[in-house]
Amino acid sequence: MRAYAQDRFGPLTDLELREVPVPQPGAGEVLVQVTAAGVDPSIWHLVTANPRMVRLVWGRWGRPKWPVPGWDLSGTVVRVGPSVTELSVGDRVVGQARGTFQEYAVAPVSTLVTVPDPLDLTAVAALPVSGVTAYQAVESVQPGPGKRIAVIGAGGGVGGFAVQLAARAGAEVTAVCSAGKADLVRGLGASEVIDYRATDVTESGRTFDGIIELAGRRPQGALRRLLTKRGRLVVVGGEPTGTEWLGMGRMLQATLSNPFVPQHLHGLVATMPKETLQELVDLLAAGDLRVPLDRAFPFEEAVEAVQFVRDGHPHGKVVVAVGG
Ligand SMILES: NC(=O)c1ccc[n+]([C@@H]2O[C@H](COP(=O)([O-])OP(=O)(O)OC[C@H]3O[C@@H](n4cnc5c(N)ncnc54)[C@H](OP(=O)(O)O)[C@@H]3O)[C@@H](O)[C@H]2O)c1
Repeated sequence: MRAYAQDRFGPLTDLELREVPVPQPGAGEVLVQVTAAGVDPSIWHLVTANPRMVRLVWGRWGRPKWPVPGWDLSGTVVRVGPSVTELSVGDRVVGQARGTFQEYAVAPVSTLVTVPDPLDLTAVAALPVSGVTAYQAVESVQPGPGKRIAVIGAGGGVGGFAVQLAARAGAEVTAVCSAGKADLVRGLGASEVIDYRATDVTESGRTFDGIIELAGRRPQGALRRLLTKRGRLVVVGGEPTGTEWLGMGRMLQATLSNPFVPQHLHGLVATMPKETLQELVDLLAAGDLRVPLDRAFPFEEAVEAVQFVRDGHPHGKVVVAVGG
């Protein structure tokens, strides 16, 4: 089978498409023929070891412990490991594995959710990292009827889900994104759009009950001035322009400042509960959520897909169509 792999941390161009043996599932695992792999900024971080901390956590003797990139997958179960009863050959699934930029991936059953027939298996690969992160970020700002929520970085993978989930909870959503993404975010439920290139939202005089910070790395003090007295800020991301050591400074700052201010500040490190993924699949199946899919890159262009996300171009979410 074909797989992308890297022998050392470095530029995306070091990723090579190779012929490798098909892996075998162990106890509690299944082999999935991968239909699509989700692309998010973390793939670039892990391939290039920026922040540098990646080398400590993700590396061994300077080499990546897991040479195949990618977390999110959708596909079809083609083999089940010993003691697996929850899934069978032929089941359509979405979830996570260590290394999804490959034609077959071994995934723990504990991360997988079955995908009902009408759902598009390619689009659904967009769900795990971005959908679940959006769900947890939205939960953190406690949206509801009458609440004003700002999503900063609304036009990307996480933002596209966050706008929908906050609007669905009854909040009035202000999307902060570039002008070209205004139609996209309005279509997802935003009632107001601020083009951050034309207007500095932190100087706009508005206040919000909740802010989901996904991009732009605005100073925490400036974001707090946008909040109501008891407003809630969740810091999820914001891409570095240079090389960082830890990469979590802004999230730590939010969480550590929280006890000392009247507002609620939270740095989110997303987890991946299967129940949340199941809830999102149910919402998709019911037509209450949609995947804001920019495009599916062909497998042969997986490296370009990661670069495309890194460059900040996507209108919503990007996946790689692997096969199946
Ligand atoms: N903490 C966690 O557990 C966790 C989990 C998942 C992701 N993340 C992080 O969350 C962030 C968002 O992830 P993502 O997948 O949504 O990334 P993405 O798809 O690249 O989306 C980010 C969006 O932000 C917009 N943007 C760039 N500069 C901006 C600015 N100054 N102000 C407002 N918007 C700006 C970009 O579009 P336009 O400029 O065209 O509007 C881009 O679409 C990333 O930093 C990612 O690493 C963190």
